Order: sequence, then structure tokens, then C-alpha cells
Amino acid sequence: MSVTALRPGIADPIHFFWFIPTHGDGSYLGSERQQRPAEFPYFKQIAQAVDQLGFEGVLLPTGQSCEDSWITATGLATVTERLKFLVALRPGVVSPSFAARQTAALDRLSNGRLLLNVVVGGNPVELAGDGVFLPHDERYLQADEFLTIWRRLLSGETLDFRGKYYRVEGGRIDFPPVQSPHPPLWFGGSSDAGQEIAAEHTDVYLTWGEPVAGVAEKVERARQRAAARGRKLRFGIRLHFIVRETEEEAWAAADRLISRVSDAQIEAAQKRFAEQMDSVGQKRMAELHGGRRDRLVVAPNLWAGVGLVRTGAGTALVGTPEQVAERLREYQAVGIDTVIGSGYPHLEEAYRVAELLFPALGIENRLRRLGAAVANEFTVGRHGRERVAAAS
Ligand SMILES: Cc1cc2nc3c(=O)[nH]c(=O)nc-3n(C[C@H](O)[C@H](O)[C@H](O)COP(=O)(O)O)c2cc1C
Repeated sequence: MSVTALRPGIADPIHFFWFIPTHGDGSYLGSERQQRPAEFPYFKQIAQAVDQLGFEGVLLPTGQSCEDSWITATGLATVTERLKFLVALRPGVVSPSFAARQTAALDRLSNGRLLLNVVVGGNPVELAGDGVFLPHDERYLQADEFLTIWRRLLSGETLDFRGKYYRVEGGRIDFPPVQSPHPPLWFGGSSDAGQEIAAEHTDVYLTWGEPVAGVAEKVERARQRAAARGRKLRFGIRLHFIVRETEEEAWAAADRLISRVSDAQIEAAQKRFAEQMDSVGQKRMAELHGGRRDRLVVAPNLWAGVGLVRTGAGTALVGTPEQVAERLREYQAVGIDTVIGSGYPHLEEAYRVAELLFPALGIENRLRRLGAAVANEFTVGRHGRERVAAAS
């Protein structure tokens, strides 16, 4: 089979995930006005909404400034039905056997809805706070050992392991995960050292939202590394979304989102990210805009405004549902089959994405399913089958 034949076709469905903002949310970046605290009742509102709306899952970020993703996902799993949880696995921060036991427990509690995002971290200042002092590439060597132990334990082995970073004797997991041999591993590092780990151990390779050419290049490199090991990866992209009925409305919303960010805040944030971080992925994101407000449209409908003050996912697709769907089809044509979206504020933007964008992508929005055949102010007198036909 040719490489092209292995790629998803543009008519294939996109797996659409959303994001739980465990470090806070709001209507404006760089401002306390209309800010929402990072609290479980709000996360619950978002999780239950996106579960109903037909999103496949949610990513929970990890880091010093985030509410703990494992505890949060555990709580959310008990109040949702279908939603999957992409939770960070942190080599170097926890022991692999302990992480394997937690994995099995959360996979059982959620009835097989757990996915793991392997995060070694890209900020040595933050990592020092967690007791991790290894340099960039060595963090990945440690991750290699961590994932080897984690996978073998969850696959049912009783394990003796002696490596450079870990030693385990008689390790075992008595209560297995629901998913066999273990919940899928996802991964989002952009460096060569990171891609080697992705190729060896993981199932889905993630990238932040760069222009299509950059994504295609990264995807191809990762694909080749996996193929050299006889393995295949799936690919996902992490983007913010500002979708409105008209293009003018969408760009006005983008401008509004950063209307309260000062130049001093941008300068300070960019300086801090550049000085502290050793993440290749973060460097690629920052280079898109160079910290300049006048360089934010980095490709058609791709806006880098969020990255002025936020690390990680720094770009948004901005436009009408048709425009944004077209851009996603372009990513899909280079191998992406999964999207992890977000938008400020995350509750309202989840509804906008589901109501405006899902129809353009052919994704079922569960709330559009019609119940009782009532005539009301939304249907202006239409009944039963007529309503169903109009909505489909
Ligand atoms: C979709 C996605 C989600 C990520 N989530 C996190 C996160 O929650 N916390 C974190 O510290 N890093 C996160 N990262 C960063 C990477 O996992 C990685 O640690 C960092 O980019 C350094 O690796 P690199 O130099 O190989 O790019 C994420 C990356 C991607 C693409």
C-alpha cells in the first residue's frame, strides 16, 4: 500500500476533542475582566456540555499553574457518559509503576475512556519545581525507560527492570485496565528526541497549530520514524477556534480577545518564554508571530494572537464555518485525523463550534437530535417529520 493510500481521505470524519481550562478561563486575554476561576463546578459544566454536544473527548493540560489533571478527570468521568479524557503522563515526575496503577484505576472507573498524553515538559524552571533537573534530550531518554516499564506492567507482566533512570523489582498491576493492552498513548513534542519516543511508544502524534506546510513536514518526519520501526502513527492538531456566521464577526471577536493585552504584557511574556523554555515546539510557535501584533495572520484564517501571551497552543482558526472547515480539510489532507479545539470562554465557544462548525464538517451535534414534535417559536409552526427533514 502506498503512503498516500494510508492517509485519511478528506471525506473521512474528524475526531473532534475539546479542552478543560484547568488554569482558568475568560473573555479577554491579559485582563481580569470577565475572568472565570479554575474550579471544578465550571469544568463540570464544560465537560457535560461537550459530552452532550458530540465532542469525542477533552484534553486536560498539566503544569504548575493547572489544577491537577488526574483528580479533575476522575471527577469528570463520574458525571459524563461518553467523553474520553486525555490526561498527562509525566515521566520524571511520578514513578512508572505508580502511574501504571493510576492508569488502570482511572481506565476502569471511566469504563475505558482514558487516553494518555506523554508530557516530558518544556520549561526547566517549572520542572525544577517538580524535582526534575535533566536536560532536554535526556528527559526523553528517561521517558523511554518510563514508557517501557509502564507498558509492560499494564500489559500484564510481572517485571524486573534495571535501567539508567529506573529500577523495578517484582513490579505488577493486579487490577488491569479496561483497554487492552493499555489505554492509547498520545504525544506532543516537536523535537527530534521527542519524535523518536513518539515513533517507539505512542499511537497519536500531536502538533500545535502551525501553517499546513510546517505541520506536513513534522507529520512526515514522525511518520518516517515510526515506519522505520514498523509502526504507524495517527496525527492530531491542537488549535483555538473563533467561528462566527460572518467573517467580519469572527475577526472582530479575535481582535476583542486581545484588546486588553498591553504591549508591555506581550513583551514580558515573550521574554519569559524565550528565557525559560527549551521546548522546540514552543520555539516554532513563537517564531510564527515574533511577538508582533502586526504579524498575527500567519496563514489564511490562521491567527497567532493567543500566542502573544500564552505558551503552547498559540494559534486559532478564525472565520466562517465554511472557511474553518476548509482549513481543517487541508490539515486532514496532510494526515491529521484528530482536532483538539478550544476557545475563550470555553463553554460558549464549545457551543459555537458544535452549532456552527460541526454541520460543516459532517459531525453529529447530539443536541440537534429532535425530541417531541412540538411547534414553538423556533420551528415557527412546523411539526414532526417536517422538522427532522429541515434540520438534517
Ligand atoms: C497538544 C499538545 C498538548 C501539550 N500539553 C502539554 C501540557 O499539558 N503540559 C506541558 O507541560 N506540555 C505540554 N505539551 C508540550 C509537550 O508535551 C512537550 O513537553 C514540549 O513541547 C517539549 O518538547 P519538544 O521540545 O520536543 O517540543 C503539549 C504539546 C502538545 C502538542
